[in-house]
Amino acid sequence: QTSLQEKQFMHKIKAEEKIEPKDWMPEKYRKNLIRQISQHAHSEVIGMQPEGNFLTRAPSLRRKAILLSKIQDEAGHGLYLYSAAETLGISRDEMIEALQSGRAKYASIFNYPALTWADMGAIGWLVDGAAIVNQVSLQRTSYGPYARGMIRICKEESFHQRQGYDIMLTLVNGSPEQKAMAQDSLNRFYWPALMMFGPHDSESAHSAKSMEWKIKRETNDDLRQKFIDQTASQIEFLGLEHPDKELKWNEERGHYDSGEIDWDEFHNVIAGNGHCNRQRLEHHIKAHEEGAWVREALVAYNAKKQAKQTE
Ligand code: 3HC
Repeated sequence: QTSLQEKQFMHKIKAEEKIEPKDWMPEKYRKNLIRQISQHAHSEVIGMQPEGNFLTRAPSLRRKAILLSKIQDEAGHGLYLYSAAETLGISRDEMIEALQSGRAKYASIFNYPALTWADMGAIGWLVDGAAIVNQVSLQRTSYGPYARGMIRICKEESFHQRQGYDIMLTLVNGSPEQKAMAQDSLNRFYWPALMMFGPHDSESAHSAKSMEWKIKRETNDDLRQKFIDQTASQIEFLGLEHPDKELKWNEERGHYDSGEIDWDEFHNVIAGNGHCNRQRLEHHIKAHEEGAWVREALVAYNAKKQAKQTE
């Protein structure tokens, strides 16, 4: 039996009013948001690792500077998102513990190894490209702090995608070996990028509620289709072979029909058995421990500052 509060809550959702931290919300709405926003933040932070591996191997100072600023952006995106999640009543320490214990998820794509410089191109172009399709839609999410964080993040993401595509364009116009490196990277990152949109709507545990509460504004399959359609012409422009041999334009639908994703691989990777799952968490734990003195120093400094102010 729906309470008056729930009726008022759903009225606001239907009226496209943002839900703010101090507003009443169903406990399941809060829990769903803590789950999604904290995992989104974990994805941004873990996503820094594959690209971090190429900072010392960038082919020019210019590429190095661009990659460095992109990685710094990802850290900032993680910060906005952890802060948005904290407004729902979970602490940073609880979220970090959930990540490091393996209980919380992060985007499976970051468990694939970055093997060549072309991967920096494919990641910017495809992974950030997929993230943009998802995050542009999330700008209209019903929870205020999350929507506002998305608007800021989307402003920076388009630069991430463009610099990745620019790397791919340089490679395909380079030597045959460089073009082959770009093709190999596309082949390794295309399908995992499609997995970023989640399972099919029919398999999605959260989509029904997330759509009803307008946490999600478009479904996993609709966003994935948008990405498939936009990427097909970009692959053609690069003069590369499309990794999906069954891709075919469907005039009636006005979209591309595509081959099936390997869902065993998807479930395997999110269950923790991807190429780099262990390495990504070990790296995060090591960096977190090495950085503990900075956090402690900040806490001590702020305590001293406050003590002085109250003297
Ligand atoms: N990797 C890891 N886990 C995934 C996943 C993926 N690609 N796709 C789905 N899952 C998980 C879900 O988290 C859920 O597990 P949980 O209940 O333990 O959280 C389960 O699989 C079932 O999936 P659902 O579709 O039911 O889950 P959602 O409704 O949450 O949809 C989602 C999944 C589309 C990823 C949604 O959570 C979402 O839109 N999240 C925000 C965007 C995001 O997290 N993007 C990650 C990439 S960020 C990034 O790439 C940074 C860029 O700047 C580089």
